[in-house]
Amino acid sequence: MIRIVTKFSFHIKEALSTIDCQPIKGCSAIPLRSGKRYGTILSMDYRIYFRNYPTPSGEFGPYGGAYLPPELEQVFTDITLSYKTICHSAQFITELRRIRKEFQGRPTPVYHCQRLSQIVGSGCQIYLKREDLNHTGAHKINHCMGEGLLAKYMGKKLLIAETGAGQHGVALATAAAHFGLECEIHMGELDIAKEAPNVTRMKILGAKVVPVTVGQKTLKEAVDSAFESYLKQYHDAIYCIGSVVGPHPFPMMVRDFQMIVGLEAREQFLDMTGNLPDAVCACVGGGSNAMGIFCGFLNDPVPLYGVEPLGKGKHVGEHAATMTYGTPGILHGFKSYLLQEDDGSIMPVHSIASGLDYPGVGPEHAWLRDNGRVEYVGANDSDAVNAFYDLSRYEGIIPALESAHAIAFGMKLAKERDSGTILINCSGRGDKDIDYVIANYPR
Ligand SMILES: Cc1ncc(COP(=O)(O)O)c(C=O)c1O
Repeated sequence: MIRIVTKFSFHIKEALSTIDCQPIKGCSAIPLRSGKRYGTILSMDYRIYFRNYPTPSGEFGPYGGAYLPPELEQVFTDITLSYKTICHSAQFITELRRIRKEFQGRPTPVYHCQRLSQIVGSGCQIYLKREDLNHTGAHKINHCMGEGLLAKYMGKKLLIAETGAGQHGVALATAAAHFGLECEIHMGELDIAKEAPNVTRMKILGAKVVPVTVGQKTLKEAVDSAFESYLKQYHDAIYCIGSVVGPHPFPMMVRDFQMIVGLEAREQFLDMTGNLPDAVCACVGGGSNAMGIFCGFLNDPVPLYGVEPLGKGKHVGEHAATMTYGTPGILHGFKSYLLQEDDGSIMPVHSIASGLDYPGVGPEHAWLRDNGRVEYVGANDSDAVNAFYDLSRYEGIIPALESAHAIAFGMKLAKERDSGTILINCSGRGDKDIDYVIANYPR
């Protein structure tokens, strides 16, 4: 029998945090790089933001929702109801807290990059939230353990998902092994070749890896393929979407599970420095690591930057910068900014980082952008490779190519300032990328 702990009042904070959190302060409008002022466009009250967004039907303003085939409507309603019940239950909260601490290794530290800051040389100090130190090497385990636990409570036997860089696939295969469930991961053939170590890890963990050979053979096609498979086996399976994308409740649920990143980082940063950071940045593929860290600072006077992949150029097929070049539309069951033609067909995308190679973005990011709370900027392939080497050689930390986008932008921002602090979410470690980088960009 499930016991309800709270009606509402940051239940997620209580549920998923491994450290105590201080009360949040009101935010004042402060300028962004673009000259806009955040929080002033629609005068959003971020103190009550999580109570209002998403709406009960999964909307973040005009974005989000659940655009589903009729046979899946009830399935997603059941997932929503189960999640909303379970996330208040003492049993779920206790189990997830134990997993976070004993299995994942949370809290992950915040680290002051003294040498990198010196190399940048402006006086501005760079800090990392070390999500790369999670078990399995990235933030993806934060939502996979939550999704796996939900599947267990719902009596499901199989976890299905897509993966790009393989980090979500490895994390979900890990969750499946932990909970004694089966696991099926869909992955584009191109990514299978590029991220070979992660494919091996998934197989060792007992997952079935399904190669996707159509289209661009990357992340979008992997999502298509995973959805198709889910349609055939939804009675026994749950589709554990790998980011804050997909139909409601996934953008909300994945955000809630990732919120731990920002809540921890805020407290740790205050402890270390006595102040909040002067900026926070994170890379944005679907947007889960960015939502995770941003959630901790939404109601603070701290500018937030989502860093998109600018790839190798601004032409169609050369980048995956959805916010920079996209327009609103519907893909994979939700509404958000997409890279699409006038007729709604999806454009090809490219990023050196397989995990950022997606033509859409989480609906909450679209909403936070429209509200002016988060500014979306970019880093290109070569910026990411430079940052990959810089962090490795000046700090002894090899970041994932995805995270290297955020590090590249963070370093650029630090150069523009003569003091202050920047907190970057180091979403994952680069073990999966070392062979690819050394073969293609040797230094
Ligand atoms: C290490 C790492 N960071 C970031 C991402 C991008 O995903 P998201 O935007 O959902 O955080 C991925 C995706 O695979 C990843 O592996």
